[in-house]
Amino acid sequence: MASDISSSLAEGRTSTSATKSARRTAEIAEFADAVLHGLSKRPRSIPSRFLYDATGSALFEDITRVEAYYPTRTETALLDSYGEEIAALAGDVETLVEFGSGSSRKTSLLIEALAGLDTYIPIDVSESFLADAAKRLEAKHPGLNVKPHVGDFMRTRNLAGAPRGERLGFFSGSTIGNLTHEEAKAFLGNAAELLGVGSTFLIGVDLKKSLDILLPAYDDEEGVTAAFSLNLLARINRELDGDFDTTGFAHTALYNDGKGRIEIYLQSLTDQDVRVMGRSFSFAKGERIHTENSHKYSVSEFQALAKTAGWQPVKAWTDPADLFSLHLLRLA
Ligand code: AVJ
Repeated sequence: MASDISSSLAEGRTSTSATKSARRTAEIAEFADAVLHGLSKRPRSIPSRFLYDATGSALFEDITRVEAYYPTRTETALLDSYGEEIAALAGDVETLVEFGSGSSRKTSLLIEALAGLDTYIPIDVSESFLADAAKRLEAKHPGLNVKPHVGDFMRTRNLAGAPRGERLGFFSGSTIGNLTHEEAKAFLGNAAELLGVGSTFLIGVDLKKSLDILLPAYDDEEGVTAAFSLNLLARINRELDGDFDTTGFAHTALYNDGKGRIEIYLQSLTDQDVRVMGRSFSFAKGERIHTENSHKYSVSEFQALAKTAGWQPVKAWTDPADLFSLHLLRLA
């Protein structure tokens, strides 16, 4: 099985140490561009995908275990309760395509429910996350064909060499909430092309709800979410020769009612100058860097958005407290 993983990875992009270090160099250059540009413009912002280096991904795992952060456990419970019904409605799924190599717990629940499943294709930019997820799932589901695909799922439009079969897409965790409505529509259109006519798509989407529940989920008492946000500044220090004082900025989460989203910022606690790659940036006290959006949808809002990208809603499931939703869509 282990050789299966490396051979399928080698199909897409080869993984010699030379290509790995070339990819690493390109990654750092992309991060540098985004940070220098993002700190120069007003309002300042850095795209949220840069939160997920190895440290950030580990901190996000910690967030999923924080009491106030309801999405992960609620979505897992929905998959546990409705997996069979989802599988029955999805039909004879042969290939499961996961956008991002999410938590193996949720994926496993879905795999177990899909009786005729033959192949599992996780798509992720990180080859090492993919390899880990593939290993865990192969060990848990003997006989399942795991074919990881290295790539950006926002842009991947076809899976070269992957079996056609009946496809079900899976995009969990309300990761779609990081995208604006426009970006989400583009993503859904891309996914339609990738999965093909007749396929189904299961998407986890966080629901609109009371601020008493929403705000603590993005600013927990334990400070785990703050540590996750502030790691972005630490990453700039590590990778881009920065000198951010990570105690000089505060994690701030607020709800933008008009846009229906949580917005996360790093706010300067004092007047200060920061250097990144030899350039100097001045922050006035209270000035902030926008680092993340987490959009929330009612069931009908999300269904309307899906339709604009050609997907027909099949069914949506919610938990009794109306915290989170799972949407099954079909491409007619
Ligand atoms: C991974 C985008 C789903 O928006 O809930 C959690 C990210 N950021 N706490 C979310 C996140 C801070 C998370 N997503």
